[in-house]
Amino acid sequence: MENIYQPFQIDGSGSTSAAEEALKQEAYAEKCREILSAGHSAYQKYFIQNEGCQMNALQTETVAGMVRDMGLIKTQQEDEADVVIYNTCTVRENANQKIYGHLGMLKSIKRSRPHMKIVFFGCMMQEPHVIRTIQERYPFVDVVFGTHNIHRFPELFFTSLTQEGQIIDIWKDTDLIVEGLPTDRKYPFKTGVNIMFGCNNFCSYCIVPYVRGREKSREPQAIIREMETLARDGVSEVMLLGQNVNSYGKTLPFPVSFAQLLKEAEKVDGIRRIRFMTSHPKDLGDDLIEAMASGTKICRHLHLPVQSGSSRILSAMNRHYDKEKYLTLVKKLRSAMPDISLTTDIIVGFPGETEEDFQDTLSVVEEAGYDTAFTFIYSKRTGTPAASYDNQVPQEVIKDRFDRLLSLVQEKGRERSSRFAGTVQEILVEEENREKGLLTGRTSHNLLVHFPGDASLIGQYVSVRLDTCKGFYYYGTRV
Ligand code: 5AD
Ligand code: SF4
Repeated sequence: MENIYQPFQIDGSGSTSAAEEALKQEAYAEKCREILSAGHSAYQKYFIQNEGCQMNALQTETVAGMVRDMGLIKTQQEDEADVVIYNTCTVRENANQKIYGHLGMLKSIKRSRPHMKIVFFGCMMQEPHVIRTIQERYPFVDVVFGTHNIHRFPELFFTSLTQEGQIIDIWKDTDLIVEGLPTDRKYPFKTGVNIMFGCNNFCSYCIVPYVRGREKSREPQAIIREMETLARDGVSEVMLLGQNVNSYGKTLPFPVSFAQLLKEAEKVDGIRRIRFMTSHPKDLGDDLIEAMASGTKICRHLHLPVQSGSSRILSAMNRHYDKEKYLTLVKKLRSAMPDISLTTDIIVGFPGETEEDFQDTLSVVEEAGYDTAFTFIYSKRTGTPAASYDNQVPQEVIKDRFDRLLSLVQEKGRERSSRFAGTVQEILVEEENREKGLLTGRTSHNLLVHFPGDASLIGQYVSVRLDTCKGFYYYGTRV
């Protein structure tokens, strides 16, 4: 099969302006629409699947918006789709294995539906060895692109509709931020808003800086304009997204801090709740704590990944803080906002982690008082510094530590969440629960609550008494 694009040779930075690029892609989207809506077009339905984090979920919604605007209808059934799209994750090895598993399955679906177009994009596609594998073992994949050129989907898809061969377009990095792309939001009343892309931190275990490129912030005016448009469109809760929101704005021509951005975001009429993710402890300053404490719309929840409680391991992870500094930060946050909910990410089994290091992690969990913690088994990512460390921890040791950590996290989380028992909280109702007759929503503290109610309440704010604590969620009653 012929490759019209040479992977890893296109450098998007500065090729065209973002505005020119947006217009060019609109023209390609129109051409796709003409082909797809022709009398007996075989293309009617699309299936789209997201893997990974909230940044990915947002980009998945953008691509979904583009195919919807080309006239295709969404289906939840992959085997009846004419276009199948996957946004991939590569942060841990099992995410990659899952994707290869799906590719095997898609091969047999495509045998019975040869016209089907298969599109793969996102973080995993930024890895050269993955592209080589797709070229060699999965030639039936039609379109492949990465994390930096989502906006080019119409052009790539058009090329695939009109030419033979596998279309691969991967950019190493880019300065281009294309604004105003379409989107197909999962919820009409809440959504994410990207405030920055990429990461400059190079934590030694993490592949993100290699697949998402250097940190670049969106202009604050563009972010506020997007929030205003969203509010007019019925959105009342936004989640500001970036790999390290605390370093937002540092590289802008007129630098702006994240705390300043939050203060501007608070002024947007119609927005009632503002969340953000992810905060790096090394960059979390007093100005942000002040902005949170004095804010009226900023939710009382902070996700503050600790990764490990051992200062020695934190240094090997290149995190730029130690156990004491992290716990001091937690104290500061709690004295400014005594009821704040804290959540975290923890990695178990980083190379060289001893039982003593692990005990430090357990003691941080004891002291910090997390409402929830996401616990991960260390995964060796080729290309990261930690992958070449020779003191990898044996799997059975990791498994044992992981189990002990999980039970402590659950015990402490239950204790902490129980502080809300009997209180009345404002809930944004998100959806109907699988349990019949129940609705599910979230408090400002990001606590899930199920309560009896009618689907007409979805998207509204209601007062609910939290009756029964189930660990990280509650059963409640509307008051
Ligand atoms: N192994 C395990 N967990 C990882 N994370 C990132 N890289 C790895 C890895 N190689 C976790 C971190 C991060 C979260 C999104 O994923 O805890 O905060
Ligand atoms: Fe990965 Fe560290 Fe960047 Fe987070 S801050 S994306 S863990 S390198």
